Amino acid sequence: MHQDHLLSTTQLSREDIETILDRAAAIDMNPDGWEAQQSGMVLGLCFFEPSTRTRMSFDAAMKRLGGRTIDMGGVDNSSISKGETLADTVRVIAGYADAIVLRHPSEGAAKLAAEFVDVPVINAGDGAGQHPTQTLLDLYTMRENGGLNEITVGIAGDLKYGRTVHSLAAALTNFDVRQHFISPESLQLPRNIRYDLHDSGAQVREHTDIEPVLPELDILYVTRIQRERFPDENEYQRVAGQYRVDTDVLLHADDNLTVMHPLPRVDEIAPEVDQTEYAAYFEQAHNGVPVRMALLDALLEGAKWTIMSQIRTKMRIRSLMRYHQKG
Ligand code: NCD
Repeated sequence: MHQDHLLSTTQLSREDIETILDRAAAIDMNPDGWEAQQSGMVLGLCFFEPSTRTRMSFDAAMKRLGGRTIDMGGVDNSSISKGETLADTVRVIAGYADAIVLRHPSEGAAKLAAEFVDVPVINAGDGAGQHPTQTLLDLYTMRENGGLNEITVGIAGDLKYGRTVHSLAAALTNFDVRQHFISPESLQLPRNIRYDLHDSGAQVREHTDIEPVLPELDILYVTRIQRERFPDENEYQRVAGQYRVDTDVLLHADDNLTVMHPLPRVDEIAPEVDQTEYAAYFEQAHNGVPVRMALLDALLEGAKWTIMSQIRTKMRIRSLMRYHQKG
């Protein structure tokens, strides 16, 4: 990785992605071999929005690398409730930690935070923007379930507000993947993302129903309607429950279809699907640990060099000052 921060999947090349996924696979093969890899390093967890999987898997990943984590705690317990700005909060936490994981309800929050600190910032979800580490574990899961080349992926649900969708769609343009987007008309992909996909030469089609396109799919990636992002609850009620993948719907599917979901699900995948060969969403959630271990390991490697060079620079300045004082 050339960049110190991971803010968006648009900054990742195919080579970057493959480097992380290969490292995750090596970790998966031999988890014990990585136990002391990041000992002495500290990861700051700053979650301004609810999270179970992302927060806990980052916590587990850092500890499995031999590092430690410090957690800002809920917004109510921190100085945010006293009116502190995001910039001040992250500047302070950057003094306690070697890298920061940030989730925030505002789009662009991670990018803003990155401007104020000199430790790596990892975007763990910025409003309806991006969620790049979710994408890395999604790609890892796809790679483990049939590979990433010459496949057809259907992404269904809330394509407007779903940040996991925005990250995944951009990352998939690095691979030979046909993308089908399935959503109610009011929740289609934002125009700027659609333009970017077209610019990158991606093969993209849009639909309002799952069934007609299902037989073509290798992957069906289902998402939750992001209720918390709707400005108007009535608008949410109009689209809630429109898609429900159950075993009847899956009668139209190819035998090798893999059903994925970033979780949490509400009612868009029936529990009866969990028992079928199609379901990969719990495996997908478990992949969060090796993939985040791989990412942290790569970013902290870079951070160690930065810290070392900062120390060396400070030592050089001090010895220069002493030299001049003597002179
Ligand atoms: C996703 C998110 O926070 O965007 N959750 C997650 O990190 N696995 C998906 C969602 O909340 O629907």
